[in-house]
Amino acid sequence: MTSSKNGAVPRHIAVIMDGNGRWAKRRLLPRLAGHKQGVESLRRCARACVERGVQVLTVFAFSSENWNRPQEEVSGLMSLLASALAKEVAQLSRDGVRLYFVGDRQGLSDKVRAGLQEAERTTAHNTRLILNVCFNYGGRWDIAQAAQKLVAQGMELTPENLDRAMALAHVPDPDLMIRTGGETRISNFLLWQAAYTELFFSNALWPEFDEAALDEAIAVFSGRERRFGQTSEQIQPSSAVPQTA
Ligand code: IPE
Ligand code: IPE
Ligand code: MG
Repeated sequence: MTSSKNGAVPRHIAVIMDGNGRWAKRRLLPRLAGHKQGVESLRRCARACVERGVQVLTVFAFSSENWNRPQEEVSGLMSLLASALAKEVAQLSRDGVRLYFVGDRQGLSDKVRAGLQEAERTTAHNTRLILNVCFNYGGRWDIAQAAQKLVAQGMELTPENLDRAMALAHVPDPDLMIRTGGETRISNFLLWQAAYTELFFSNALWPEFDEAALDEAIAVFSGRERRFGQTSEQIQPSSAVPQTA
């Protein structure tokens, strides 16, 4: 019997990296220690994606709403972004990773903005994995900025034009979205692009999400049938129920 499962490694994985704060709290550490460990986990995940032939990894690092956290945590996260850029870019580049930063850069300091640009420039020649880091990103922001761009150009607000104006226009839509940390919500991540994305929720806190956890998510994904509005029989004609005369 032909399998009705898609059987594939996802081309594009999106991750809501949640649970850093709880990971730290359980160890009686400050929340920022959890975010630091989260950077380690991201490095490991990016490398695992390269090894598994995933082409695009898009991660949610700081949401439009995360500005509402205590000022100390927000400034800690900004410093962590700057130091992670300084520390990680060379190795990511050696691993063949091309970095893109996705989000509203206007809210960021000149120093952080310059760091993002520099990291994008240094890794621009890499081709093994595109790593989109969504920072000061929100799905609603993305849809609004795309619409504003089109209006400014006098273009119609069609789904196709919006698609081309969205912040992730350089990659296909995500095939699989993983959220760690046990919550089952999207929290304003890729609202437009996740229209047909398979969702996977993990109870693991982001700092402890390892290769085995990634493999489990990929295995679950590859066992799912993606129908995009069609019927099962259209996707797998051999599974059709014989018609009675
Ligand atoms: C996700 O971890 C990272 C960011 C939102 C920056 P959290 O900081 O939300 O961790 P929890 O959910 O409090 O455990
Ligand atoms: C989502 O996590 C944002 C990131 C992982 C960057 P949050 O911790 O901010 O989400 P909520 O507040 O639990 O929905
Ligand atoms: Mg959280």
